[in-house]
Parts: sequence; structure tokens; C-alpha cells
Amino acid sequence: MKDQTVLVTGGAGYIGSHACLELLQAGFKVVVVDNLANSKVESLARVQKLAGKTLTFYQADIRDKQALTDIFAKETPDTVIHFAGLKAVGESCALPQLYYHNNVYGTLVLTEVMNAANVKQLVFSSSATVYGESASPQYSEHFPLGAINPYGRSKAMIEDILRDLSASDKLNNVEKPWKIALLRYFNPIGAHDSGMIGEDPNGIPNNLMPYVAQVAIGKLTQLSVFGDDYPTRDGTGIRDYIHVVDLVQGHIKAIAALNGEHFAEGECKAYNLGAGRGYSVLEIIDAFQRVTGKTIPYQMSPRRAGDLAECFANPALALAELNWQVEKDLDDMVNDTWNWQTKNPQGYQ
Ligand code: NAD
Ligand code: UFG
Repeated sequence: MKDQTVLVTGGAGYIGSHACLELLQAGFKVVVVDNLANSKVESLARVQKLAGKTLTFYQADIRDKQALTDIFAKETPDTVIHFAGLKAVGESCALPQLYYHNNVYGTLVLTEVMNAANVKQLVFSSSATVYGESASPQYSEHFPLGAINPYGRSKAMIEDILRDLSASDKLNNVEKPWKIALLRYFNPIGAHDSGMIGEDPNGIPNNLMPYVAQVAIGKLTQLSVFGDDYPTRDGTGIRDYIHVVDLVQGHIKAIAALNGEHFAEGECKAYNLGAGRGYSVLEIIDAFQRVTGKTIPYQMSPRRAGDLAECFANPALALAELNWQVEKDLDDMVNDTWNWQTKNPQGYQ
């Protein structure tokens, strides 16, 4: 398996760059396809420096079928990890066509090219955002889906497409059917412990951890806590934060599972990647202040539209079938976020 070639779409981005590093370190050959819409090629320069190994980079859009076909013909990958996508919830509400075109149509083109090249192993970046409302805050894979914004719906649509694709292979009795892992991420945060790669959001961050880090370093003046009247232990929203390095290890385990005998031919299966426990916004602020010694000024603000009170994973299936669970704790996540932020106050620039 170690000599296999993994083609990583969106490999220059936050999670993709961490995945490329772990893949290189695990002995895979790595080919990245990224249009740099939300990333900088510097991330890949740093990945190669850290790994002491090279990867192959193509600046291309996954919607460019000819470019993708040429890349597949040249590189003959064994497996694809598909990170490429746009991910800002608010932007997806303002520009839904862009999100459906980029994420859904992009995945259609990718899978058509994969089919034609007979590359049938895929690990897809899905999201906890595909889940609908539930009576329990701890989400299992069989819970009903019901995304509530265009970004989330683009992920749910892609999951449907991939499930249909697998089913069609079974129906058509094809010799080499698809094997697909749909990885539903909870809240990825943190950075590689070298501080050389990390999350480099464009403009003002939407997500809690990068916002807190930018307040701590003085780029932003104070944090707004979106809602203190939720039915949670301290009234603020609870999420399942997961260290990005743990998250990408889940992808390596998924590749191993796709290559193993327990993942049936023609299977398309969803796995939660989360820690299985949640932290509130105030607990995150407390941890950040304790670990870094920085004060985080904050003010209580109204709830943000579309936010749930509490959401965390049941990660039992990933443990049972992928042999994966998180290893890092909240202090690691805070430490590594802060290390990246202080070493790269302007991101990759
Ligand atoms: P990111 O924006 O840092 O990385 C995505 C990468 O895909 C970027 O480098 C971007 O340039 C590239 N890209 C986008 N559209 C492309 C296209 N059409 N062709 C080629 N490249 C394209 O985001 P991330 O946080 O690393 O997320 C990676 C994946 O994980 C995304 O699919 C995202 O939806 C999913 N996800 C992320 C989170 C999160 O909180 N970060 C949570 C759940 C799921
Ligand atoms: N929050 C604040 N202030 C902020 C930002 C966030 O109080 O400035 C709160 C939110 O209300 C929420 C918690 O912090 O309670 C976490 O919010 P994030 O925006 O960091 O994360 P979300 O859970 O809202 O969503 C993220 C991604 C989604 C993805 C989801 C699950 O943005 O795209 O995790 O993976 F789908």
C-alpha cells in the first residue's frame, strides 16, 4: 500500500496540506490538484520541506475535465482523496450556484474522470453539517440527513451521488466496483506541531478557533460569543473539536480500510470523524487563556442564524471499522493553533 499514488484534490488547503504531509511521511506518492482558489502554493512548499520528500502539484480546477483526464493518464493514481470544495456557509447562501457548480459539478467531473481511468477508490470530505435536526446531540451515521444551507446541501448531494454511483456498479456487475468512504468531519482545528502549516483563512474568520487566535494576537479586538441562552451547561454552543492531524490520520486509516478485505467491493460508507465529546465556546476561551497566557476579550452577542445548541460525534463506527480514534486533546489543539498563529501572524504571506 505504501507505494501507492494518492491524488489529493484541494491538497494545498488547510486540511489537504496536513493530509499531504502525513501521506508523504507514511510512504505514499502524492499528486495534488488544486486551483488555489482558497490556498497558497507556499503550503505545499512547506509540506515538502517538513517531509523531506517531494510531491507533484498541478494548478488545475477539478471542473476542467480535459486537464483532469491528462493528469490521471500521466499519474495513474490508485486512490483519490477529494478535499477540493468551497466551504463558507454564509457565502454559500449568497452565491448558491457557485457552491453547487464548484462542489457538486466538480465532483461529477472528478468521478467521471475516475470512472474512465478505472480509479475506483475514493475518500470524500463530507461534514457533520449534512445531519438534520435530532433529538440527541450525539450524532451517529444512521441519523437522518437534513442540511440547512447550500454548502451543507452540496455535501449531502455529493454523498447521494456517490451512493448512487456505488449502487450502479453493483447493478451493472462491473468488474472493479467503487469503494468509497464518506468522512463526516466535526470541527477541525489546530495545526501541525511544527507551526509551519496551519489554517490561513481569507479575511475575517467565520470559525471560532481562528477568530480567537486572531484576537489573542491583536489582529481583532474582541470575540462575539454567539448566544449565551442555549440549553447547554453554560448557555453557549457546544461542538466536537478535532485536531487536524488526528483528522488526516482518519484519511490514512480510511485508505487502509479501502484496500483491506473488510471493505466490501461496491461499498459506499459514511464515518463520523470526531472526538465524541464537546466543548462550549466559553470552555474554548478558558482553555485558550490558560494555555497561552493571553486574555481574550469577548462580549455576549445574539445567536448566529442556523447554529445548533450542541453537536458532537458518535465515533464508534470509525473505531470499529477504520481502527481510528482521536489522540490529541484540547490543550494540544490550542497549543498548536497558537504556535502556528505566532509563527505566521500573516498566514502564508
Ligand atoms: P480549504 O479551503 O482550506 O481547502 C480546500 C481546497 O480546495 C483549497 O485549497 C481550494 O483552493 C481548493 N479548491 C476549491 N475548489 C476547487 C476546484 N474547483 N478545483 C480545484 N481545487 C479547488 O478548506 P479545508 O478546511 O481544508 O476543507 C477541505 C474539505 O473539507 C472541504 O471540502 C470542506 O468542505 C471539508 N470540510 C471542512 C471543514 C472545516 O471546518 N474546515 C469541516 C467539514 C468539512
Ligand atoms: N462562535 C462564536 N463566535 C464566533 C464564531 C463561532 O461564538 O465568532 C460559536 C458558534 O456559534 C458555535 C461555535 O462557536 O457555537 C463553533 O462555530 P464554528 O463557526 O467554529 O463552527 P460550526 O460548528 O458552526 O461549523 C463548522 C464549519 C462548518 C462545518 C461544521 C461541522 O464552519 O462548515 O463545523 O464540520 F460543517
